Amino acid sequence: MCGIIGIASNKSVSVNIINALKKLEYRGYDSAGLATINKGRIDEKKCPGRVEKLEKILFQNPSEGNLGIGHVRWATHGVPNEANAHPHSTEIVSVVHNGIIENSSELKKILEKEGKTFKSQTDTEVITVLLTEKLQNAEPLEAVFKTLGLLKGSFALGIIFKNYKDFVIGARRGSPLAVGYSNDENYLGSDSYALKSMTNKISYLDDGDVCILSKDEVKFYNSNKDKINKEIFTLSENKSEVNKGNYKNFMIKEIFEQPITLKTCLKEYIDKIREEINFYNLPIEPKKIKKIVLIGCGTAYHSCLVTKYWLEEFTNLVIETDIASEFRYRNNRFDKNNLYIFVSQSGETADTFAALDLCKKENLKTCSVVNVVESSIARQSDCVLPIHAGPEIGVASTKAFLGQMLVLYLFSLKIGEVRGDLDNKKYKKLISNLKNLPQLIKETLKEEQKIQFIAKDIHNSKGSMFLGRGSSYPIAMEGALKLKELSYLHAEGYPAGEMKHGPLALIEDGLPVVVIAPKDKYFEKTLSNMQEVIARGGKVLLLTNSDGKVISENIRFQIDLPSSDLSLTPFIFTIPLQLLSYHVALFKKCDIDKPRNLAKSVTVE
Ligand code: F6R
Repeated sequence: MCGIIGIASNKSVSVNIINALKKLEYRGYDSAGLATINKGRIDEKKCPGRVEKLEKILFQNPSEGNLGIGHVRWATHGVPNEANAHPHSTEIVSVVHNGIIENSSELKKILEKEGKTFKSQTDTEVITVLLTEKLQNAEPLEAVFKTLGLLKGSFALGIIFKNYKDFVIGARRGSPLAVGYSNDENYLGSDSYALKSMTNKISYLDDGDVCILSKDEVKFYNSNKDKINKEIFTLSENKSEVNKGNYKNFMIKEIFEQPITLKTCLKEYIDKIREEINFYNLPIEPKKIKKIVLIGCGTAYHSCLVTKYWLEEFTNLVIETDIASEFRYRNNRFDKNNLYIFVSQSGETADTFAALDLCKKENLKTCSVVNVVESSIARQSDCVLPIHAGPEIGVASTKAFLGQMLVLYLFSLKIGEVRGDLDNKKYKKLISNLKNLPQLIKETLKEEQKIQFIAKDIHNSKGSMFLGRGSSYPIAMEGALKLKELSYLHAEGYPAGEMKHGPLALIEDGLPVVVIAPKDKYFEKTLSNMQEVIARGGKVLLLTNSDGKVISENIRFQIDLPSSDLSLTPFIFTIPLQLLSYHVALFKKCDIDKPRNLAKSVTVE
């Protein structure tokens, strides 16, 4: 997955391209590049590494030109080096690409037999070479359509042409692409976020669309080459200017923002006077729902798993959860009376989007829980439930996870109540309990110092385990995911009761084992599982809410978290796990906001 930008203007574009690329770095940051049309030739500059490095190159050797494209890369084909960085150019055409060309090897073989040569190991260069060939006897738009006809896979493209210094061509299939409008300047970008500092007037390309972007106008064509009009959306007010404030990095800022983001979300959904949850426009009447299927990836999938426990508690519905990349290829038993819920912070995750698309094609009822309301997933689903967390910049998802859980918790209560599965008195009580949630999170954040000690103690370990039962099991998985992605320390999240069926063999002297044991119906059982771990030398960090009571002398660390209604423990118990992964990564001097090999928005399969 990568980020692309294109600008057609009446002034030099390279500074704006660099600024937009910095915003797009959440999509990939292993290399960066740009190309402009300068004095009748293509001026391409690129490098492995961050946009900052590209900026330094431009500072030494500026790129002039009123028309240009830019790219940040997350490698799929070929290691991150200069040759594989985008743009990929020949003398007459230059291309930036987000997505994957699935038949690139076949096309490359054919082109090589024809005597064409390649400079990189990327799939994208095939597009450049094909376009160069087609441009010998076709105008740019026709050459683009001819080339697209040969490609299999997904793409968002930005293309400039040496002999046509007035326009950029954009094309979309599978990967998102937005157009922005301003005076004497128009833009192409992977998302509206990258364009927000330049404009709030946005259109979105649909699958198969192509656009020609000049400084004064934007023309759109559908896959049949018919000219089409696009709706222009005005984006909600300036969420674009995010900064770290006094925090060291975005992740810790976002962790500490959680009491506020949860409060905002509660305000959006709860009618305080009537003590009622407002959900509008659900695509299916709750009483008619046969089954709810929750789908997401990574952290978003973990919020689906927690929700399964809530929905099973508050409703008598059948609940299914699935990882989007599995769901999209399974032989699903689709049913028109099911509700399919897609959970995604970015709203652009390719696997989640493809799973949603599959459901749309089957005419199923869909709903999305997203942070970015202008995203592809939000726009494609029948009903959108925003989480109102504000921009999340740290690659590791924190405040969005709590936001997803909160919206899905409210959803579970509401569905339970409307269906008559959840007693109205209990429903009102649970709504009323929620007003304390932001404060409970605030109190939990005060444990940071203790967690710093623990992080110091465990940061050199070679592995770790996270155990929980019931809804604490997905929270254990989330804790393990955070630790591995941020600190590169091996971590496994496991149902505590499963340890004896194999993973107990991993326990050896000093292995850190985080045990998540709120005082719920699983409490005693989890403690027994914990003792089995201690007996084999495991170094236990117990997270519980036992009001300071020491559970066992053999526990290395015990942290007591605030007590709440038991259904709210997933929110509270997530906080120390976020802080733990953060501080371990800090001790290990890892790049907290941009962990290696990852990207914020995963727009490829
Ligand atoms: C982990 C993390 C990822 C994302 C996953 C889905 O901290 O951030 O696992 O949760 O890539 O992304 P979204 O929610 O944007 O669909």
